[in-house]
Formats: sequence, C-alpha cells, structure tokens
Amino acid sequence: MGKLYGLIGCPVEHSMSPAIHNDAFREKNLDNYYHAFHVETEKLEESVQALKLLGVRGFNVTIPHKISIIPFLDKLHETAKIAGAVNTVVNENGRLVGHNTDGNGYIESLKEMLNKPISDHKILIIGAGGAARGIYFALTHQGCQEIDICNRTISKAEELINECPFSNNSKALNIQEAEIDIEKYDIIIQTTAVGLHPHVDQKPLSLKNAKKSAIVSDIIYNPIYTALLKEAKELGLTVHTGVGMFVYQAALAFELWTKQAPSIEKMTKIVNDQLGGTSC
Ligand code: ATR
Repeated sequence: MGKLYGLIGCPVEHSMSPAIHNDAFREKNLDNYYHAFHVETEKLEESVQALKLLGVRGFNVTIPHKISIIPFLDKLHETAKIAGAVNTVVNENGRLVGHNTDGNGYIESLKEMLNKPISDHKILIIGAGGAARGIYFALTHQGCQEIDICNRTISKAEELINECPFSNNSKALNIQEAEIDIEKYDIIIQTTAVGLHPHVDQKPLSLKNAKKSAIVSDIIYNPIYTALLKEAKELGLTVHTGVGMFVYQAALAFELWTKQAPSIEKMTKIVNDQLGGTSC
C-alpha cells in the first residue's frame, strides 16, 4: 500500500512541492502520495498529532510553522538544532523527527556554480532573519570563515553572529556600509523578502561596485529574476536563483523519506515550467 507524505503551512495553495514530489514518486515507481495541508497556527499541535496518528510517513513544514512546530516533535536532528527551525519531518516508527534541509540544500545548489571550495570565498549575507540564520550557520558549519552580514537593523546581524555555534570572523554591517564595501565579496546572498512578488521592483542594495567575478544569489524564486538579480545580470555578474535552493531542499527531504535520490534536473524543470522561465 502506498504511503502518505505532505506539507503543512499557511498558505500552501500555490506550493510547488506536491508537483515535484509526486512526480519523483512516479519516477521511482513508488506508490506514494504527497498532499499540501493548509494548517492555521492555532491548529498546529492538533494537526501534527493527527498526521502522526494517521501514520503519515513524512512531511515538509513551511511558513509560519518552521519554528513553532519544534515543541510538538519527538526529536530533532542536528540540522534542525543548528538552524533552530524544521522544514522536514520524518516519521520513524511513530516518532516524529525534525530535520532541516534548507541550509544544506542551499549550499548544494550554490556549490554547483563554484570551481573552488566554498570555504575559499568571501561572502556577504543580506538579511538577518530566519532564512539568513539557516544559511549562515550551514556555511560556517562547512568551514566558511569570511562571512559578513548586513541588515537594515544592524543589531539583529550582531545577534546572529553572536549566536553562531561555529567559529568565523564575521562582521555586522548596515546596508550603506555593505554597499561601499561590496567589491570585497565573491558571493553575495540575498535572504530578505525584498523583491518578492508583488514588490518586484525593490532591491535591498545596489550592486554597482561589486566585482565582475562575483556570484549574486537570491533565495526568492517568485519571481525567478528579482530586481537584484536583474541588476547583477546587467552588470555581467554571475546569477544564482532561488530555484536551486527550493529544488535541493526538496531533494534532500525526498532522500530522507525514501532513501532514494530524485532527479534534480526533472525537479528543476517542473519548477521552471510552473514559474514560466528558466533559472539558468
Ligand atoms: P525570514 O524567516 O524569511 O528570514 P524574517 O525572520 O522575518 O523572515 O526576516 C526578514 C529579514 O528581511 C530581516 O533581515 C529584515 O530586516 P530587519 O531585521 O531590519 O527587519 C529583512 N527585511 C524585511 N523587509 C525589509 C525591507 N523592506 N528592507 C530591508 N530589509 C527588510
């Protein structure tokens, strides 16, 4: 009999996760099914209990439940402890174990674009929220020492640096300081919501002074090309879109559930087709 998987979040109506996971199940000849469940915050605990009781074998967790789900799980994997958030749950014989594949998914997708070790790059992270935290901790866990964080509210960047469990030489900057110093960075990672649909003309800073060899990465994938990435392209810089992170976090979750690696190319094609563009 097929197994049930899913996603909980609010909203989930436009999620592309069901399309990519169900396609990967078909590709692997697995009689499984992935369904997106709309779960309001006040129903989170009951919903998690219900999924466990009904024997759902695994599920993804999205906004706004990535942190608030933690008390309702039986155990946290190291990836979730490091990130302080859960995006994937595995039902291990009735015990719900929380994982986080966002940070490692992001790094896997970024590594595809690099021709030297990721730890040899000087990195700027824009933003100091939950998404920045996952990526920053995952990068420092990989040995990256040279990561600066700029944020509209500089105190939040300082807090993030102080909380990081892995050694690094990070500095907190405000946006203006980052713009002036931007030529120092090999990789610039945009993690804020600035540029997200429908505010597609907004960008968090100017790339005018970035070096020509820089890679500019935006975790937003709707639109695929944010205003920041459009500027990067115009300046001739290398662009890394949010589709990569989305696909790799899904692929790592799929592997946790099935012990099989799905096709990254196929998942990427489905997402690009649905978003109406190409992310390359
Ligand atoms: P997420 O979990 O998606 O990272 P979050 O934790 O609410 O969301 O963090 C949002 C990030 O986007 C923060 O870095 C925030 O900056 P502040 O700490 O100053 O609030 C940043 N952000 C959101 N809107 C912004 C805007 N209009 N301009 C600049 N930064 C913005």
